[in-house]
Amino acid sequence: MFEFKYLFRPINIVTINIYKNYAKLGYCSLNKNYLYNFNIYENYRGNGYSTILLNHTKDLNFKNYTNLQLHVEKSNQIALNLYLKNGFKKKTTLNDIVLLEHSIIT
Ligand SMILES: CC(C)(COP(=O)(O)OP(=O)(O)OC[C@H]1O[C@@H](n2cnc3c(N)ncnc32)[C@H](O)[C@@H]1OP(=O)(O)O)[C@@H](O)C(=O)NCCC(=O)NCCS
Repeated sequence: MFEFKYLFRPINIVTINIYKNYAKLGYCSLNKNYLYNFNIYENYRGNGYSTILLNHTKDLNFKNYTNLQLHVEKSNQIALNLYLKNGFKKKTTLNDIVLLEHSIIT
């Protein structure tokens, strides 16, 4: 039901786009094991699509990294909860930014 398209960019960056019925729902990018630009388009929010994109991205692990990391603003409770619910753990907090990590068993 969901489709994923990968846009490979130089050098270690890949953008993962998520589609449903040919409509693009959102995207995120990976630079090695660092996840960023995680976004579900406003019209599609509140449907759990972020969890599907997040879990798909976690499973990709093109280069056998042992963990996946990301930063989120402390005030972004929706995103923070999403990551914590999906196995990410808080590593450090610097000012208003939280570093989260998810270990990957290869
Ligand atoms: C964070 C984000 C990716 C979550 O995407 P999503 O697909 O809406 O996530 P979900 O559908 O799982 O919803 C997450 C929670 O937010 C609530 N929510 C989010 N948007 C909502 C909306 N428009 N209407 C109703 N509820 C909404 C959901 O009820 C859910 O709460 P719950 O976990 O208690 O059930 C999305 O809000 C987003 O793209 N935000 C802007 C970019 C951003 O902040 N990215 C993260 C950077 S680290």
